[in-house]
Amino acid sequence: AAPTPHYVIGFSQCTMNDAWRQAMLAGMYKELAFYPNVEFRLKDAHDNSALQQRQLRAFLREKVDLLIVSANEAEPITPLVEEAFNRGIPVVILDRRTTSRLYTAYVGGNNHEVGQTAGRYIGSLLRGRGSVLEVLGAEGSSPAHDRHQGLLQGLTAFPGVRVVGQVQGDWKRPSVLRALPAALRAHPEVQLIFAHNDRMALGAYQVCKQLGIDKKVHVIGVDGLSGPQGGLQLVQDSILTATLLYSPGGEEAIRTAMKILRNEPYDKENMLSTMVIDSTNVLTMKMQTEKLASQQRDIQRQQELLETQRHIYTTQQRGLYILGAA
Ligand code: FRU
Repeated sequence: AAPTPHYVIGFSQCTMNDAWRQAMLAGMYKELAFYPNVEFRLKDAHDNSALQQRQLRAFLREKVDLLIVSANEAEPITPLVEEAFNRGIPVVILDRRTTSRLYTAYVGGNNHEVGQTAGRYIGSLLRGRGSVLEVLGAEGSSPAHDRHQGLLQGLTAFPGVRVVGQVQGDWKRPSVLRALPAALRAHPEVQLIFAHNDRMALGAYQVCKQLGIDKKVHVIGVDGLSGPQGGLQLVQDSILTATLLYSPGGEEAIRTAMKILRNEPYDKENMLSTMVIDSTNVLTMKMQTEKLASQQRDIQRQQELLETQRHIYTTQQRGLYILGAA
């Protein structure tokens, strides 16, 4: 049989420093396990667009076969993604977009839909009347832009619900702890805070608790991760009223990359679906994710068992060969 070709995939990741990105990477490695002929190279930009630009230039010099890019900020990363694309290197955009159509495929959530679903949920939760404060993700990143636009769109059906203030966050909790108290003092009428991710939503809750208003202000986030500080746990503990599911999409990104590399048909836009998780469905969600995680552990154990058996088999074969030769 013809030898299977060896591929190099470069992954330019905006940051690695949070559980959501770790879950994304775990999904990628899980899928990569099926492709031993792939060399996977990861460069972590530490939330720094200038560093991400340099890392993308390095990937271009290394001549990778395909790039996966999650852009820290859309504008500064766009020219490099365009350059890769124009040089014939396929580019899979994962979660955070560039501003151009020059890419091979997108994998990730539909952030406009995430914001819109949140807006509709908020409108009915507040029964059509109320004041909302929005905590934005990092300026210049596409999910922050789209979640904001989507929120306003979702709220158009509820003219009695107004976004009275905004806090510029950076996806991380400390930014909210710093800026939110002043915004809440300026807007004591606020009944609900919509934060663009669960980490910032947790920060918003902590600020409300400190100000003694945690019982009267709802907090809603985005991501819905499982695990100890994840959104599912925060909803179950009534710290968040709800979270919007936003899947990291690691498996799907590798699957799409492999279709492209093997010249198989693929979709340009691969949208992962969202849903509201609140007290009515959080237990079901938790049970399902825990079940999946335990099945995943079983698969891992089976793989390890196979590996040891294969090792025993090859050493025995060698032993038989040596005996036969003697
Ligand atoms: C993780 C994260 C998520 C958020 C996503 C947006 O780095 O901040 O919490 O949903 O990135 O790109």
